[in-house]
Amino acid sequence: MGDFIERRIGGMSPGELSEAVFAGRILCFEGLPPVNDVVTAARRAVSGAFDDADPLTVHADLDSSDYEQRYAAARRAFQNDSAAVRAMEAALVAAGLERDACYRDRLVLRISPPHARTYRRGFGAIPPHRDSWGSGVYSQINWWMPVYPLSAENTMAIFPAHWTKPIENDSDGWDWTRAGKDPDAPLLPTAKSEPDRTGEVRLDIAPGTLVAFSGAHLHASVPNTTPHARISCETRSVSVRDLVSGCAAPDIDGGGAEPAYTWFRRFGDGKVLEPQETSAQIARSR
Ligand SMILES: [Fe+2]
Repeated sequence: MGDFIERRIGGMSPGELSEAVFAGRILCFEGLPPVNDVVTAARRAVSGAFDDADPLTVHADLDSSDYEQRYAAARRAFQNDSAAVRAMEAALVAAGLERDACYRDRLVLRISPPHARTYRRGFGAIPPHRDSWGSGVYSQINWWMPVYPLSAENTMAIFPAHWTKPIENDSDGWDWTRAGKDPDAPLLPTAKSEPDRTGEVRLDIAPGTLVAFSGAHLHASVPNTTPHARISCETRSVSVRDLVSGCAAPDIDGGGAEPAYTWFRRFGDGKVLEPQETSAQIARSR
């Protein structure tokens, strides 16, 4: 299982990147200058929302609703920061994405304070899931980075044993158009049995490192048993070239969600990935 994780100094070519990610590799990129710009922008959003208090311990000094409201303000500030968006796109291109072929989801700032028992969008500890159960996009790459230092007891875990092994889940019939709008709809499909933790990868990495992994990998927040909040940021991308060529992760246990192409916006101008246009392009190539 140790073979799944790979440390990279500098970027790769688009072909190498897609081939590695959709073979299940978990790539940790170091030495990509734009990653530091993303971290700076994320810290700026956090500092603004928490009045420059120590973001790793400030949860102990605030009541939970004040804390969550301040987090929400930081999340919005980061998501809407054009400098952060530009830096994230530059970081992904430096890692290997082909700028002209790629689309990205919004930027998400995530905070998981100690002992969080619930989760909401970007907040708390997320249970084991594959993004592909929800997005239906098997050519999706997840991008993740720490904003402040973290540890193996306070990070994200990936379960490579489930790259080829199905796990019981509730993705059947899941409708992403309801998530976040309908209070009765779950936020995301999740695993319904305990993961096989053989070879579990806990991302114990320093700020300035960027991780890329397939959206079809089973992953979850590690229960945070430290006194510190975990603060990270993420996005996900899809390349039209991968969609058209069929370069994608295997679907071994998904419930058949319609591909959520409209989550993704083109690098540079933000044009939405059009479902019909994309499906037609894929059909023509087959
Ligand atoms: Fe995820």
